[in-house]
Amino acid sequence: MLAAVAARTSQDDPLSGLEMRRVDRPDAAALPPHWSVVDVRAASLNHHDLWSLRGVGLPDEALPMVLGCDAAGVTADGREVVVHAVVGATGHGVGPGERRSLLSERYPGTLAEQVAVPTWNLVPKPAELSFEEAACLPTAWLTAYRMLFTSARLAPGDRVLVQGAGGGVASAAVQLGAAAGLEVAVTSRDAGKRERALTMGAAVAVEPGARLPFRADAVLETVGAATWSHSVRSVRPGGTIVVAGATSGDPAPMELTRIFFTEISVLGATMGDKEDLEALLRMLVRTGVRPTVDTSVPLERAPDGFARLASGEQVGKVVVTVG
Ligand SMILES: NC(=O)c1ccc[n+]([C@@H]2O[C@H](COP(=O)([O-])OP(=O)(O)OC[C@H]3O[C@@H](n4cnc5c(N)ncnc54)[C@H](OP(=O)(O)O)[C@@H]3O)[C@@H](O)[C@H]2O)c1
Repeated sequence: MLAAVAARTSQDDPLSGLEMRRVDRPDAAALPPHWSVVDVRAASLNHHDLWSLRGVGLPDEALPMVLGCDAAGVTADGREVVVHAVVGATGHGVGPGERRSLLSERYPGTLAEQVAVPTWNLVPKPAELSFEEAACLPTAWLTAYRMLFTSARLAPGDRVLVQGAGGGVASAAVQLGAAAGLEVAVTSRDAGKRERALTMGAAVAVEPGARLPFRADAVLETVGAATWSHSVRSVRPGGTIVVAGATSGDPAPMELTRIFFTEISVLGATMGDKEDLEALLRMLVRTGVRPTVDTSVPLERAPDGFARLASGEQVGKVVVTVG
């Protein structure tokens, strides 16, 4: 079957290690007990795939590796499913001793015609969502959901700053936050993306580092070094910064004095659990909110999708369709 594979990794030129290859289909008879094969109908790209191609979290001995964390598809018995991308956190399908991993770290990922996962990881796809929409959810949207509602515990009327409007996580946070009645502020380096964020429900959109009209109850931080200082200055005393990424690197200095003096809580978030994913699906069905898809390409053209993601010009998700 066709797959987008990390054949090599390169810190400086991550796309140079991306290859479209024929790989073996998962052998249902050889899978561990309680695993299923899913025919992928749509997958989506994440910054995680670029980190993998840089060798972050993907050591040489794991190569070649099928990339991709996110998928929606159909099981052998005809069920339409969304794939929860976290394997090992609960022991389902792998036993209690295995460390948590995301698809494409230890097990082959979703950018292929088929993917094998623990059956427990399959969540029913609501009929209201298309495969392309559902494929946007398991990483970026799930993380944004968890940051807003599980980690920061934001309530309607609360104020939140989302750093970096255009990204997959950030655009999800803007849309989910607005749908939940939050007052959402965003930053973006790009004026066009700031405009888009306003149409997606943000109340305020400013350049990175600019003063906000309010102090935020919480800040969602995935950009890292480029925005950290602004995050610390923008949160109210006693507020929360939730960190789920550091695209521009680890910040230095950490602004520790301001953090302790104003009693800011800094929380880490990674993905979300299956219950978060099920709640996210219910929220989209009830609210009518749908992921913003920047670009959709067929699997054969996955490298074009990767180029779009690496350009940093996208607003929302890059989707890959199969079949
Ligand atoms: N912990 C987890 O479970 C988890 C889950 C998902 C993602 N992540 C991490 O979160 C980060 C974002 O992921 P994603 O998939 O949403 O990535 P993405 O779609 O590629 O978005 C990248 C974002 O970074 C911003 N950005 C990049 N470089 C910047 C810079 N130098 N200065 C300011 N902003 C910059 C962009 O904002 P503008 O262009 O609008 O300024 C954009 O919002 C990644 O590091 C990823 O690994 C972690």
